[in-house]
Amino acid sequence: MEYAAPASFSFIRRSMSDASCVSALSLLPENIGRESLLQAVVPFTMVARKRLEFLYDSAETIDQERIPGNIVQCGVCNGGSAAVAGHRVRERHLFDRKLFLFDSFKGLPPASEADGVRAQSFTGQCSGNQQSVELALRIANIDRSHVEIFPGWFAETFPHARTGQIALLVIDADWYDSVKLVLHTFYDAVAPGGIIYIDDYGYWEGCRKATDEFFAERHIEVPLLAIDDTGHAFRKPPRPTTYT
Ligand SMILES: C[S@@+](CC[C@H](N)C(=O)[O-])C[C@H]1O[C@@H](n2cnc3c(N)ncnc32)[C@H](O)[C@@H]1O
Repeated sequence: MEYAAPASFSFIRRSMSDASCVSALSLLPENIGRESLLQAVVPFTMVARKRLEFLYDSAETIDQERIPGNIVQCGVCNGGSAAVAGHRVRERHLFDRKLFLFDSFKGLPPASEADGVRAQSFTGQCSGNQQSVELALRIANIDRSHVEIFPGWFAETFPHARTGQIALLVIDADWYDSVKLVLHTFYDAVAPGGIIYIDDYGYWEGCRKATDEFFAERHIEVPLLAIDDTGHAFRKPPRPTTYT
């Protein structure tokens, strides 16, 4: 997890109200390719290249394998990785998927004891804004009518969201409490074979603890795939792995 904003980020923020910046988007090709998209979102994300590639490919996989359901991302910040995960949410697309995005847009909530000493000073960090998210969605040519953004704390917004079945669940919420709430709220809605991605598993001990506890509680026995030293993912088993 890289917390330093890229150098170009302050430029994007400054120019957000500049109409010329937005109209420049119209110069992007309608179907922006993988490489162009992965480069274009860099100012809008803290997620490193290898993990962005995984999210891009996961969006393709759920289509190729016809996994039913929507795409849900919890922890959006400025929207770069959400635009990658949702890049196939386009008009006239074969699958009528929706993209649901959740974030406080006020930065991280206070960490708990489970997150460790180092995490305690991060309250309010990683604060994104919704305008940046809108811009990132436009860059990816995502059909905005298929996107719902829920600004606010997860505990307050999750009960109001009708996410339906989920094909791809992206968890980039850092802390024990946040990750645990996401898993408890959305795991059951993930379709068999659906992809669950956890950005901070290798980086923050609280995220790892929340995930490991959830695996133990639910008797999930599939392996976690390491994307890099922090991002991990797994496919929801097609059927319960135990009968107890
Ligand atoms: C590391 S950032 C996400 C980075 C983002 N995925 C990207 O592409 O750069 C973590 C985000 O999780 C959000 N977050 C964590 N816990 C939350 C909670 N309980 N409610 C709402 N937002 C939360 C923070 O606001 C922050 O924007």
